[in-house]
Amino acid sequence: MNYHEARLKTRSFENFSCRSCEICNGIACRGEVPGVGGKGTGSGFTRNFAKIKEVMLQMDTLYEGGAVDTTLEIFGRVFKTPIFAAPVGGLTSAYNDSLSDYEYSRAILEGTLKGGGTGFLADGIAPEQFEGPLRALAEKGGMGIPTIKPWEEEEVFEKITRAREAGAIGIAMDVDAAGLTLLASLGKPVHPKSPSEIARFVEKAGIPFVVKGIMTPGAALKALEAGAYGIVVSNHGGRVLDHTPATIEVLPAIKAAVGDRMKIFIDGGIRTGYDVFKCLALGADGVLIGRPYAIAAFGGGAEAVASYTQQLTGELADAMRMTGALSLKDIDAGKVICDHRLDI
Ligand SMILES: Cc1cc2nc3c(=O)[nH]c(=O)nc-3n(C[C@H](O)[C@H](O)[C@H](O)COP(=O)(O)O)c2cc1C
Repeated sequence: MNYHEARLKTRSFENFSCRSCEICNGIACRGEVPGVGGKGTGSGFTRNFAKIKEVMLQMDTLYEGGAVDTTLEIFGRVFKTPIFAAPVGGLTSAYNDSLSDYEYSRAILEGTLKGGGTGFLADGIAPEQFEGPLRALAEKGGMGIPTIKPWEEEEVFEKITRAREAGAIGIAMDVDAAGLTLLASLGKPVHPKSPSEIARFVEKAGIPFVVKGIMTPGAALKALEAGAYGIVVSNHGGRVLDHTPATIEVLPAIKAAVGDRMKIFIDGGIRTGYDVFKCLALGADGVLIGRPYAIAAFGGGAEAVASYTQQLTGELADAMRMTGALSLKDIDAGKVICDHRLDI
């Protein structure tokens, strides 16, 4: 089953909170948090999507031909694609209860690994929201990245240990979850984290540690100084703060600040392999995709997740061939036109 078929299937589900729109741009679900939308006016989500669309590709087919290679080396592993699934939790309120956290994570890992990438896995209030994904991870030899919420330090330490025991290739923390006020109202608050706390998590992890939810060069530099292996330039799909810039707008300044000293992922509104190309051109090493992977997993399981990954990677390869980039390293800012870089 491909992505299109999986999406149509989810539309026939009863109680599926996501509308599974043909174009997943945040307009129909504005303000639906809980749900799948962006917080408040939903501008964080809609702007992510819109600003990527404004970047254009520079076609140039006058070059010595050759095979296009979409391979990325990261987390000490070689992946056939720079496209990864983003962590998606709170499945019952955002989608429905047809997949447990374990089943969802298994579909995501199995499918993305088959497609040549892998997935970041979610965390949540109930123990099973972390343990389920970890079980799926252990079954896949640790080939995924558990993403721990910024809970109290003791709980984070415990979860880092559990992730390591499952053999994870890396560990992430969505520090921007501090904006998920719902967690506090459910009795389990999350907090902003100081750079020295992040440094302690990095040390405890002892494997690549990625800080997810970075939107400024200053925050990226703090993560770098704390010893993070990488960052995810992300506004949590617009779910934690209204009125942020789009992630693609802040990416160039963040790349300029940290250079090649850390790995840079980006997410938010990335829907095609052409979008992936734009993100790599403006400074990312790899990308994460959230909502569409969730639709693929709910509608078509691992098969649709794999098919979607292959579809995106094919589109990325097409963009590379048509712009004269035979490897990911050849994709640079000269291959896109972009007039909205924020000078931040
Ligand atoms: C329903 C839903 C649940 C999410 N849960 C998590 C989570 O548990 N941890 C996390 O780091 N990010 C979470 N995110 C954010 C995604 O990882 C990602 O940053 C965002 O969805 C990317 O934008 P996109 O959906 O437009 O691709 C969630 C997003 C959605 C839509």
